[in-house]
Amino acid sequence: MHNLSPRHFLTLLDLSPPELNWVINRAIALKKIRNQGELYEPFRNRVLGMIFEKSSTRTRVSFESGMAQLGGQAIFLSSRDTQLGRGEPIEDSSRVISSMVDMVMIRTFSHSQVEEFAVHSKVPVINALTDDYHPCQLLADVQTFVEHRGAIKGKTVTWVGDGNNMCHSFINASKQFGFKLNVACPDGYLPNAQLMADNTDQVQLIQDPKQAVIGSHLVVTDTWASMGQEDEKKAREAAFKDYQVNPALMDLAQPDALFMHCLPAYRGLEISNDMFNDPRSVVFDEAENRLHAQKALMEFLLLEPKV
Ligand code: CP
Ligand code: NVA
Repeated sequence: MHNLSPRHFLTLLDLSPPELNWVINRAIALKKIRNQGELYEPFRNRVLGMIFEKSSTRTRVSFESGMAQLGGQAIFLSSRDTQLGRGEPIEDSSRVISSMVDMVMIRTFSHSQVEEFAVHSKVPVINALTDDYHPCQLLADVQTFVEHRGAIKGKTVTWVGDGNNMCHSFINASKQFGFKLNVACPDGYLPNAQLMADNTDQVQLIQDPKQAVIGSHLVVTDTWASMGQEDEKKAREAAFKDYQVNPALMDLAQPDALFMHCLPAYRGLEISNDMFNDPRSVVFDEAENRLHAQKALMEFLLLEPKV
């Protein structure tokens, strides 16, 4: 039986801070369960529909493996093969797909498409990246910070680079998880102005990356050209040339600062060749934690634990 009004996860604001902390702690617990080789299969007969209108490695593999490990199944729905890709309205697609599966995850371009799908869905909808937000990545990032350094509340994080979907999700995360966020982006590539204005309590624009990282416990960046911006690559490389994260920039942050990148990364552009293997980099732990964090999220949405 499905709920009358399911919970969705379209941005980090859809869960309360205690609920988000439940997901992070549960992710850490589920990681232990898997590492101990224990079987835990609460999702027998449950199905996740996975709609992809953009490429993916981590998101697809983590959701698909996560469902299998929890005893359920996942269906990969590429817009190349479904009627959604041929123009069937989102409302109709949502009504049909959500009548057959238990949960849907969507990776697409416009955020409003995910919102529209959710309005008509009988089951929980998860945003697996839009042009505006990438909340699943933030669950993995916060889990990774907590595992390496303990609570993120009260810490300082610096975002370096494009004011993109990842940056927007870091802004939401700073509110929900209670950390300070410095944002270092060049002119023309600042985050959404309204989102910045809504978060002045804990978010500060410091455009010079060398100034921004001072005192930071975590430095984060992302590609300079997101999916859908391939034509802008050359112009963006010029605009972001002073925004590379490298060991010299990291040296200006706290001595125990961590470095994160959601991946895929472009060595020699937003990160230097030597940044990946720098001991401060936790990018592969961060990638693995997509699996554990999303398993916890799916448990939260489907099993509705009391939080
Ligand atoms: N970080 C991330 O979402 O990776 P993919 O694009 O490979 O899914
Ligand atoms: N900002 C990047 C993130 C990729 C996971 C993009 O949207 O392409």
